[in-house]
Amino acid sequence: MIKKKIVTIVGAGVIGAGWAARMLACGLIVNAYDPSVKARKQLLFNTKTALKSLQRLGLNKNAKLSNLKIYSDLKESLHLTTFVQENAPENEKLKKKLLKDIDKLLPKNIIIASSSSGLLPTRIQSLCNYPERVCIGHPFNPVYLLPLVELVSGKQTKKNTIIRAKKFYEEIGMKPLIVKKEIEGYISDRLQEALWREALHIIKDGIASTQDVDDAIVYGPGLRWSFMGVCLTFHLAGGQTGMKHMLEQFGPALKLPWTKLKAPKLDAKLKKLMISGTKKQAGKYTIKDLEVQRDIFLIEIMKTLNKYQSNNFPNWNKTFNKF
Ligand SMILES: NC(=O)c1ccc[n+]([C@@H]2O[C@H](COP(=O)([O-])OP(=O)(O)OC[C@H]3O[C@@H](n4cnc5c(N)ncnc54)[C@H](O)[C@@H]3O)[C@@H](O)[C@H]2O)c1
Repeated sequence: MIKKKIVTIVGAGVIGAGWAARMLACGLIVNAYDPSVKARKQLLFNTKTALKSLQRLGLNKNAKLSNLKIYSDLKESLHLTTFVQENAPENEKLKKKLLKDIDKLLPKNIIIASSSSGLLPTRIQSLCNYPERVCIGHPFNPVYLLPLVELVSGKQTKKNTIIRAKKFYEEIGMKPLIVKKEIEGYISDRLQEALWREALHIIKDGIASTQDVDDAIVYGPGLRWSFMGVCLTFHLAGGQTGMKHMLEQFGPALKLPWTKLKAPKLDAKLKKLMISGTKKQAGKYTIKDLEVQRDIFLIEIMKTLNKYQSNNFPNWNKTFNKF
């Protein structure tokens, strides 16, 4: 008989539910722990919706919702688990204590990966007895569709932990990116943050509405970015001599005041502009409606990407048939 693999999700909000759906889609058994009754109820609903989206990509033959086991007790959720993904709120003190509790309850070879968006792993692993098995595995929302996961080591993380975590994430159809040096915000969130800060300045200074700022990405660079990142895009912007010409032509612009980067003060006026602007953009659609539309769109983009970059595409049917 084929032995099934159990993984544990600790913290089952937006990101925890996303991990649960991805792992279920790969045919794994998912134990999910959350201290909140509301979150545990919501998890079932969110996972069901996500699995519906994932059907368009094709599920593993062992995938079923009944493989999701929901727990209100941390210890029970960790029984016989082979991998732990922590998704509690982004709070260093809370994560430190939670990781310490998880660490105490697990054999020392089981990896504990945190979904943290930017905390330093050296700090959050510091209270563990076996900090060498702790790392960051930072995903992107919706986790069940987007392949990227950033892997970050703390000072005490063993190299082998990263190798094993990378292998696991690849098996569940992801694209792991190993961050070479520990830094707050890692890679992708630092890039997004630069754009976000600039967007806030543009709106605060009355240069554009939230809709204009979004259009400036969606109809332009955003379309290119789903295929090529900023470096290769600019290589092509330099004509036949590529980046060399690009740097010669636009290098001097780096000295122009084209960016503010330092975040503006998030005062009441700016908050109002952001909230009313995005509400107007959403129009009659609820967040759930928009999530469904986004998933359909992402799946189509990923199918197109697959034609050109087959290695980056999750293939549920290939993964985990061995379990
Ligand atoms: N939302 C995103 O886009 C995003 C993307 C990538 C990574 N992350 C990271 O993922 C983590 C979770 O974020 P989220 O957006 O899912 O938050 P969320 O608020 O939706 O979910 C957090 C969940 O953790 C639970 N929780 C609270 N205390 C807990 C504890 N002691 N032990 C276990 N669970 C506990 C809460 O009940 C809640 O259900 C954060 O570290 C965040 O930075 C978020």
